[in-house]
Amino acid sequence: MKTLLENLNWRYATKRFDENKKINKKDLSDLKEAIRLSASSYGLQPYKFIVVEDQTVKEKLRAAAYNQPQLTEASQVIILASYTEVKEEYIQNFMKDVAETRGLKVSDLEGYANMIKGASMTLPKDQQAVWTAKQAYIALGFLLTAAATLKIDSCPMEGFNAEEFDEILGLKEKGLTTAVIAPVGYRSEEDATQNQKKVRKSNEDLFINI
Ligand SMILES: Cc1cc2nc3c(=O)[nH]c(=O)nc-3n(C[C@H](O)[C@H](O)[C@H](O)COP(=O)(O)O)c2cc1C
Repeated sequence: MKTLLENLNWRYATKRFDENKKINKKDLSDLKEAIRLSASSYGLQPYKFIVVEDQTVKEKLRAAAYNQPQLTEASQVIILASYTEVKEEYIQNFMKDVAETRGLKVSDLEGYANMIKGASMTLPKDQQAVWTAKQAYIALGFLLTAAATLKIDSCPMEGFNAEEFDEILGLKEKGLTTAVIAPVGYRSEEDATQNQKKVRKSNEDLFINI
């Protein structure tokens, strides 16, 4: 636990990355695996993660992110994109996955499928999008923690134009939209933010113990 807390103190929302430092294949693969292992409501995973390494695409994304330098300086930009609505097809595909993984029949899971459909598909469309985006944010938490464990720097970001991102990445036609993003790489020595003390509420202010 000491190490985890040390790593969480080490991490900070990196403003300037060293563009010459790239994440190696093994660390990137471990980071992706940690994101894949994220928890999600019912286990539905109503999202996709796009890992952008292509510099030309990164330049376009930067322009759609108020010119924030992380977009082009980071080794990769991870886009956490969520489905804009919950379709029956996604739930059916998930049921197939559960059945295959656990050696069950899809028909055994009918009650489970109906419960998920009842809870998600009955929501108004805009609320479905909020719900799927929340799931993507949980994955963001896994990403930030795993990156810190690997001593990879990251910056959670909401400062971008989602419509422009979706256009650049061709997400709309896939039924996806950009929920949140995280450039990952290695901090530049010149990033002054790394020297700033963390500002967090005190335990007394933050926790209500009942
Ligand atoms: C959802 C979310 C969106 C954020 N958006 C941006 C952003 O667009 N640009 C940026 O530089 N930092 C962004 N941040 C970083 C926060 O400002 C930062 O996490 C916060 O100040 C706490 O500092 P720390 O993460 O360095 O401990 C965002 C953080 C979160 C969680």
